[in-house]
Amino acid sequence: MDLPYYPLNDFDPMIKGMVIGGLGILHVFLAQFAIGGGMLMCYFQWLDQTRRSSHARRFLDGYFRALVLISFVLGALTGVAMWFTTIQISPRTIGTMVDEFHWIWATEWTFFCLEVVAGYTFYRYGKQLSDRARFTLLILYTVAAWFSLFWINGILSWQLTPGQWIETKNVWSGFFNPSFWPSLIFRTIVSLTIASLVACIVINTMHDLDRPAMTKLQNQAARLLAPMALMPLLGLWYLGVIPSDSRTWVTGGSAAMTMFMTLAVAASLLIGLYAMIGLIRQKLFINGATATLLCALAFGATAGGEFVREGVRKPYTIRERLYSNSIAKEEVVHLREVGSVTHDPYPLKNAEDYPTDQLRLGAKVFRFQCSVCHTIDGVNGLTHLAGTWTLDQRRLNIAKLQHTKSFMPPFAGTPEELEALVQMITWVVEGRPKAWNVANEEKTLIEIRQWLDQVGPD
Ligand code: HEC
Repeated sequence: MDLPYYPLNDFDPMIKGMVIGGLGILHVFLAQFAIGGGMLMCYFQWLDQTRRSSHARRFLDGYFRALVLISFVLGALTGVAMWFTTIQISPRTIGTMVDEFHWIWATEWTFFCLEVVAGYTFYRYGKQLSDRARFTLLILYTVAAWFSLFWINGILSWQLTPGQWIETKNVWSGFFNPSFWPSLIFRTIVSLTIASLVACIVINTMHDLDRPAMTKLQNQAARLLAPMALMPLLGLWYLGVIPSDSRTWVTGGSAAMTMFMTLAVAASLLIGLYAMIGLIRQKLFINGATATLLCALAFGATAGGEFVREGVRKPYTIRERLYSNSIAKEEVVHLREVGSVTHDPYPLKNAEDYPTDQLRLGAKVFRFQCSVCHTIDGVNGLTHLAGTWTLDQRRLNIAKLQHTKSFMPPFAGTPEELEALVQMITWVVEGRPKAWNVANEEKTLIEIRQWLDQVGPD
């Protein structure tokens, strides 16, 4: 039972998890804009064809430029960047995701290709085409974009709620997992919301239109905000199907999670109220600054929501299967016998900075088991968190890691590795002195083993 080892990159002083998270938030926002943008354009193309709006056509061409520039270019770039970073940070997680859902990814990419081809064709030839052809192309673009969400949503929601898949290992029971529908519908509504708010900004740049014409266009775009009324219900549905420990994080269990959740809800509520009262009922005009502010709020809500969605999955990247540090649940017992980095072939960065082999071992254990969520002395740094503890407190709390904070995975190494890690932390706390004693007392190691046994492997 040898685990796969991969070379991991170091993003110090940032936490690795944050690198993926930050990029993911940006990517999700852009991708959802691309989907909602397609729906909005279909709607305006229809308004134009059926002579329901005299400015819809002009708006469409302006809006599409924003969509292409922002979501195609940046969306695709951040998408590639996601792959590029996940393989450096959590290769085993992304590998498992590819492995389990091979054909689903392939299908998703096919839809993405279709989306790009349809979008590009519209961009290049849209002006010359007949209404019918334009409409068909936009529908094709939108359906393809929405289906790429459909496919990827199954894989991402499976990470948090694998459901029946745990027993059946069946692709479809993993794909249509308990949070599949609430999250798909929720994301679709978010897509419409972003598209509609961006439309309000774009309309403000159409300076040759008079105020009533702009207001009319905005009111038409604002119709896409109406489904936001369903968000509270969908949110509750989602909360209802996620694991109960995850639910407790966002309802007070973890200060950070609860705060971000509150932020996301508050931002969505503000947008929703403004949309329902100002735009839909009173049909107000909304100026560029306000529209931009609402869009920024939507970004804030997305950021908060995604942060929470990723955060509540701790200590797993794939629930019940892989811990956040890419160690599988059933490997913990084995690794406590043979060591977690005994077979890790990748050299340490700046290995010569550590005065002893024991400290180098500690640094490797840190890299393998902790570095996805911690740095040594930067963000969420171990020396800050455990700096004031005594040696024995460090040993005990790390041996019982999953009890120290229940969003951490269990320690998955030998007592020698744990002692090496504690020594390494202590060495940094002491200011990285040139000389450092090797500490491997039999008594200490036996005690650590007892603690590990007491707390158990999960
Ligand atoms: C899944 C992410 C994750 C992993 C992996 C992880 N931790 Fe943590 N750890 C956290 C978070 C989040 C906190 C809370 C930080 C805070 O309270 O500000 C934390 C807190 C701690 C604390 C302080 C606990 C306290 O009671 O104040 C220590 C010590 C610690 N971690 C050590 C480790 C060590 C050692 C490893 C590797 C063997 C590790 N952690 C792996 C996420 C993780």
